[in-house]
Amino acid sequence: MNAQTEARVDVPLEAGSADQRRPDPCALVIFGASGDLTHRKLIPALYALEFRGLLPESFAVVGVARTQNSTEAWREEMRAAVTEFGRDEMRDDVWKRLAAGMHYVSTDFSSEGGETEVMKLLEQLDKERGTRGNRVYYLAVPPAVISTVVDKLGERRHPSGWVRLIVEKPFGHDLASAKVLNEDIVSNFQEQEIFRIDHYLGKETVQNVLAFRFANGIFEPIWNRRYVDSVQITVAESLGIEDRAGFYEQAGAIRDVVQNHVLQLLALTAMEPPADFEADAVRNEKVKVVRAIAPPDPGYVVRGQYGPGEVDGKKVPGYRHEPGVAPDSETETYVALKVFVDNWRWAGTPFYLRTGKHLSSRATTIVIMFRPAPHPPFLEIAGEGLRPNLIVIQVQPDEGISMRIGAKVPGQGMTIQPVNLSFQYDRAFHVHLPEAYEKLILDAMLGDATLFTRIDEVEAQWSFVDSVVAQWQGSAPDFPNYAAGTPGPKAADALMARDDRLWCR
Ligand code: BG6
Repeated sequence: MNAQTEARVDVPLEAGSADQRRPDPCALVIFGASGDLTHRKLIPALYALEFRGLLPESFAVVGVARTQNSTEAWREEMRAAVTEFGRDEMRDDVWKRLAAGMHYVSTDFSSEGGETEVMKLLEQLDKERGTRGNRVYYLAVPPAVISTVVDKLGERRHPSGWVRLIVEKPFGHDLASAKVLNEDIVSNFQEQEIFRIDHYLGKETVQNVLAFRFANGIFEPIWNRRYVDSVQITVAESLGIEDRAGFYEQAGAIRDVVQNHVLQLLALTAMEPPADFEADAVRNEKVKVVRAIAPPDPGYVVRGQYGPGEVDGKKVPGYRHEPGVAPDSETETYVALKVFVDNWRWAGTPFYLRTGKHLSSRATTIVIMFRPAPHPPFLEIAGEGLRPNLIVIQVQPDEGISMRIGAKVPGQGMTIQPVNLSFQYDRAFHVHLPEAYEKLILDAMLGDATLFTRIDEVEAQWSFVDSVVAQWQGSAPDFPNYAAGTPGPKAADALMARDDRLWCR
């Protein structure tokens, strides 16, 4: 892989896309507008889109939340959020264009009459800003609130405009609740109007798994049980739970990250090539993989919870001492699993999955470990360096792909040493990668559901997660079992050691 190309891509969302359509005029309504996601991700993503001229010509944003606030104050808060979390410099002209269409409504939308003001404002915006009755509703609210909100949105459809409903994860809490939630949503919206978001699918590096596998002829023939020894998927975070104890106590690592991000990475790594890149072709192949994941052997499931420790040079409390967390909480902040994908391509190939909070570093990687060369002629003399090939897809940070090969050390004799061939996004394309939410919000406006999760896949994800959770219910965990700032519980290393393997660091 010689990746030192000199391509210069200044506007990646435009330049990288075959689809250069600008979305139709529309209003984007964010439910949960006072929340963390809106500050850190959604408004900075809209600013980045405005910065590149990718938003619809006629556009408005309506923030809806229970927190009392005025439009003016909300705009100021959002400007500060863009300055802090955005990837572009704050430019007055760009901000003014976006902010001019931003409004805030404090209301409990789910209460009697709570929707009236929002609906009136949307009609007014149709007239003043030309949004033509087209609506993107972004539900960044807990699953419990969604049902009443979608009932009201369903009743108050605009007679001629289109509608798209973006639903944030987690989509339910388990299979049963996901089904109920989905029934509520589909009684008001059609499947093609529903965009269940998992922001991992909007990451350039995650989409590049498909490009890497299917745009290159050389990998597919070896991408199977005959050549691959095992696969490791890691979503490691140095961050803790921040201020999200209320949510996290109910979710834990298995629902917060395994159910969605980790299983998405697994699905893209293991899926069959789709016939084309249309939403259903891609999603049909992904769901087959998730359905083929067998419930793990209980001996190969590790859960962990962090105790006090040091992260990035700062002392941090243990999970049980985080504000809002029960002092005897049994919520897991770490999970490691070994699973099998029971199909023709992957039978017998272990997939090792792990994720955790407050680990020693932040890294999301997919590692494909190949079987050793069958008969290296210099086995006796090559020394320690004769190691199996591996491909590391570095999803974040330092986005790129590298491949470990054995090379001869210059000089006398035939000593072999592992070296890396590597491709790095920043060196190859000279760009800062767009944030996942930019791509996904734009796709939803354009009505392209390829990178959103269809309900059959969500259900397959929950069936798997339910099977794991059922195994550990009733057994008291020995928490905390890893110190914050370390690579995780010892039991996760033991899980690998039992198979004579190591986690790739
Ligand atoms: C979110 C989880 O979905 O993903 C968070 O709720 C987690 O707990 C985050 O921190 C990780 O996303 P990223 O893009 O930072 O890897």
